[in-house]
Amino acid sequence: PQVIAVLPAAGIGSRMQAECPKQYLTIGHQTILEHAIHALLRHPRITQVIVAISPEDQQFKTLSIASDPRVLVTEGGQQRADSVLAGLQLAGNAHWVLVHDAARPCLHPDDLERLLAITAHSKVGGILAAPVRDTMKRAQVGESIISHTVERQDLWHALTPQLFPLELLKLCLQRALDEGATVTDEASALEHCGYHPLLVAGRADNIKVTRPEDLALAAFYLTQLNN
Ligand code: CTP
Ligand code: MG
Repeated sequence: PQVIAVLPAAGIGSRMQAECPKQYLTIGHQTILEHAIHALLRHPRITQVIVAISPEDQQFKTLSIASDPRVLVTEGGQQRADSVLAGLQLAGNAHWVLVHDAARPCLHPDDLERLLAITAHSKVGGILAAPVRDTMKRAQVGESIISHTVERQDLWHALTPQLFPLELLKLCLQRALDEGATVTDEASALEHCGYHPLLVAGRADNIKVTRPEDLALAAFYLTQLNN
């Protein structure tokens, strides 16, 4: 069955401190946003990509991808979750929806395929995630002093894409926002509502370009991906 994708791309990229929102920075011949869109459209089951952009955005329409019939655009909101919800309104009656950060250009096709395959028989969906590598410390509240070491065994970094049944994700995001929950990814909205999505092991090079030093890393991973 077909999968609709939503790309939240309405952020300003404050931590990147660039001239423009980070999703419009170019790596190789394409912007980060275009790399992210193409990584999704390469999969035969992904038939549509809905991009949520800022109301002030003047750049999206200048990209050649903007005229691709598989790409729809909508207005994002204040928070990431608002942008995702706006995108979901255009998703029609698809069963599955996949949400992917516009700022993650290095998604490997094998990871996308594994996420789709492993969640296929799940009722609540799942996310790509990478096991934590470093020793993890919990600080004393508000202080730069170690309280204790947190067992690393069961800690994962949440990545995207994240794949959920469309109606379930809509309900959970809306409820989490209404109830003032912290929603930094889609899974956290489901968790807020008592669901437990799957963790699908993904590659650690699927980075979210966040700070200036991430650009060179993403460029390196992209050349590896394309060779
Ligand atoms: N995003 C969005 N709408 C918002 C905020 C974020 O669509 N109101 C998107 C960003 O464009 C990005 C993704 O959510 O693709 C992940 O967010 P993040 O990495 O935090 O991006 P920014 O919010 O743009 O960056 P920063 O937090 O540094 O300002
Ligand atoms: Mg942000």
